[in-house]
Amino acid sequence: MYTFGLAGFPVGHSLSPWIHGQLMKQTGVEGDYQLFEIKPEDFDEQISEMKNRDLDGFNVTVPYKEKIIPHLDGVDASAAQLGAVNTVKRTSEGWIGYNTDGTGFLHSLQARFPDLFEQEINVLLLGSGGAARGIFDALMKQAEVQVDVANRTLSRAESMIAETGGAGIARAVSFDEAEQAAGEYDLIIQTTTVGMSPNEDTSILSLQNLKEGTVVSDIVYRPVMTTFLKEAEQKGARLHFGHEMLLQQAVYAFQIWTDLEPEARPLLEKFERKLKGE
Ligand code: ATR
Repeated sequence: MYTFGLAGFPVGHSLSPWIHGQLMKQTGVEGDYQLFEIKPEDFDEQISEMKNRDLDGFNVTVPYKEKIIPHLDGVDASAAQLGAVNTVKRTSEGWIGYNTDGTGFLHSLQARFPDLFEQEINVLLLGSGGAARGIFDALMKQAEVQVDVANRTLSRAESMIAETGGAGIARAVSFDEAEQAAGEYDLIIQTTTVGMSPNEDTSILSLQNLKEGTVVSDIVYRPVMTTFLKEAEQKGARLHFGHEMLLQQAVYAFQIWTDLEPEARPLLEKFERKLKGE
């Protein structure tokens, strides 16, 4: 019997209990996934209390992915480089932190488009926040890519590139430049919060110049079909959805906790229906 949890604020609408419930069912494991909504002023005290509970591991979400690190006994190399943890496991060496966001993104993309990374590709990454960093790091480690990064605050794009060892592989560009050059990319990844419910009608960038067959990904999963993806679809793009990443990062967290290897694919359709409220 396992006990897992999620620390964040707010966590009331989290899909993680549902996802991990499905993963337990798929692997025949018995367990429980609890939500820990922690107010910022109570963070230190509540995390100490969580660590004294009978938990095997827990996820960490906004706004604590960085703040959790001093509370841990160790952090794996990739999470340490990113300075962000989304998965914590109780081990014989204490509480160890991992980050499954970037690999979750990349592997869900590879599962859908197995041939995408067969040759070097041009990528446009929109955004330079926490989510963008994880994705950028995973992309650079595992794929032959040239990356343009566009962000509202250009200096944040520049520092993300410099801090993640991207010099020579990536460059910061303006939204105008990215829009003009949209037809030159093989893969476009939207990582900002623009287009997220309740602002479904907004989109970060016009895709007017997009070429057919480009893979366009949006990590926003509420709604499943964002305005950005709708425009991409109209231009003949191949789509990758935010809930695919969400599911895969949870699969990797579950794998870290249990050493079992559940599959995301059989759950995708059911998850999409749940998100659409069907
Ligand atoms: P997360 O950890 O979810 O990535 P974050 O670190 O707050 O969240 O980053 C949010 C991203 O969305 C950033 O790239 C942010 O751009 P800035 O770096 O300029 O703040 C981007 N973003 C949020 N709201 C935006 C808006 N209205 N227009 C353009 N970009 C926006």
